[in-house]
Order: sequence, then structure tokens, then C-alpha cells
Amino acid sequence: MRKVVEDKGRLYEGPIWINDALYFVDILKGEIHELRDGKHMVLARFNTYVSSIQPSKNGYLIATAGKGFYKVSYNGEVKLIYEVRDWDNRNRFNDGKCDQLGRYWVGTMNLEEKYPTGSLFVFDGINIKRVLEGVTISNGIAWSLDNKKMYYIDSPTRKVFAFDFDLEKGEINNRNVLVDLSRYNGVPDGMTIDSEGYLWVAIYGGGRVLRISPEGRIVEELLVPTSHTTSVTFGGSNLKTLYITTADDEVNGGYVYAEDLDVRGVETNLCSF
Ligand code: BGC
Ligand code: CA
Repeated sequence: MRKVVEDKGRLYEGPIWINDALYFVDILKGEIHELRDGKHMVLARFNTYVSSIQPSKNGYLIATAGKGFYKVSYNGEVKLIYEVRDWDNRNRFNDGKCDQLGRYWVGTMNLEEKYPTGSLFVFDGINIKRVLEGVTISNGIAWSLDNKKMYYIDSPTRKVFAFDFDLEKGEINNRNVLVDLSRYNGVPDGMTIDSEGYLWVAIYGGGRVLRISPEGRIVEELLVPTSHTTSVTFGGSNLKTLYITTADDEVNGGYVYAEDLDVRGVETNLCSF
């Protein structure tokens, strides 16, 4: 495994691969970062937390930060497009991802990481809907290749859940446990899916990324040289490089790592707005 970002961040998260580059956030510093051809830079800065980014079909990024959604151009301009009303100040935004029809799913987490004050929301560019309540640390989201399932992580449960997913309606139903990961140190955090339909789940505090089959079997473990692995995405010219973000809790934490794999990822969905 190689280190691809040498500048130490505090909480690198939410990596995406788009337009031949890796973008990711430093949630606590409120920054969006870009890694292109080995060159690392800060693309945009917020004076609040920035928790996730997704590419829009209209040629910019959408970011969840503070209490709302922002448009971020590829030259770093930032513009608020939507603010959530009735914000619960015990929470902040956390992981988010667009589904295949371009709706933005994003969760919130309890700032103390203790109480189930968080929710999962879905935003279509006009309306926002709360789809889950009672979440403590809303985290990884991924969809099965046939879009029949949505995989979801609320970190302290130490489980990956699978919901039935209705792509047309943008609804989730019937929560089931796909796999219980409580045998590992740490908690599941961000995740992505590969072109064979297997999940790659970062274990925060566990120093590893797990590959999990659609039946919930752990088939591979990738060890990372630091324990606080936060999220993963596939990138590189053939989508066969797994990029792993980490938090700065130890000597080797706070960097981005990469591992070349035999399996390909799938292209990131584009936000419809
Ligand atoms: C959050 C962190 C949290 C971690 C583990 C991350 O997504 O941003 O604040 O500690 O998950 O639950
Ligand atoms: Ca996360």
C-alpha cells in the first residue's frame, strides 16, 4: 500500500474519483482537496464542517457543509444553494452520496457521537425529505449494482444494513442486517461497491478495509498502516485503484493511501442538480 497524499490532514473523508482526479474532504478543517497526477492541493475552504462531496451532471461539485448544500466549481468558487430549516444543533452533516437518479442522500451525526439525534435525508435539488431517524453516526452509503438494495452504516451499531431500495420512488424499506462487524476493533465508516457487487468497508479504529459479499461474507481484508481508516473509493484510469482516506489520530494517520486491486470499481453517480 502506498501513501499518495503526504500532507497531513485532520479528518480526510468522502473520496470520489471524477475527471481523472481524486477529490476528498477534510471535514474538521472545512476543506475540499484535489489530487491530480500526483499533485495535491486544497480546492476550496469553508468556515464550517464540509462532510461530503459529489459530482454534478452540470459540471461542478455539490458539497454538504454547515447546514446546507453548496455548489463548488472546479476552480474553487463556493455558493450556497439550499439551507436545511429546523436544524438540530446537536448534529452535523456526515457521509453522503448520490443515487443513480442523482438524488443526494446524506446523513447527520451527533456531535458527541453518543445520542441517536441524527437522521438520513434525501435531497433532489428542490425538496429535502427525512427518511430515517434515531441515527447516531450516519456513515457509509452504497447501492447494489441492480439498485434493488441500499447498504447503510450507522457506525456505533457496528453493522452494515441492507434496505430494499426503490430507485424510481427514492424510498428505502425493510432494514436487515447484512453483516455484524463487532468482532473487529473499531466501527464501520465509509464504503463503496465494486463491479462484482462486493462492498469495501473502511473500519474506523480497526486499521483495515473489508471486502464483503452480497450475502454478507467477509472475503478479504486489506490492512492499512494506521487504525483510523475513514472511507474508500475506486479510481485511477481503469478504476482498479482503491483510495483510502484516514484520520490523524496516529503517526501514520491523516494521509490518503492507495492499493492497486484486481477488481474494478464502478463509476460514481452524478448528482442531478
Ligand atoms: C465521522 C467521525 C467519526 C467516525 C467514526 C466519521 O464519519 O466523521 O467524526 O468519529 O465516522 O464513527
Ligand atoms: Ca464517514
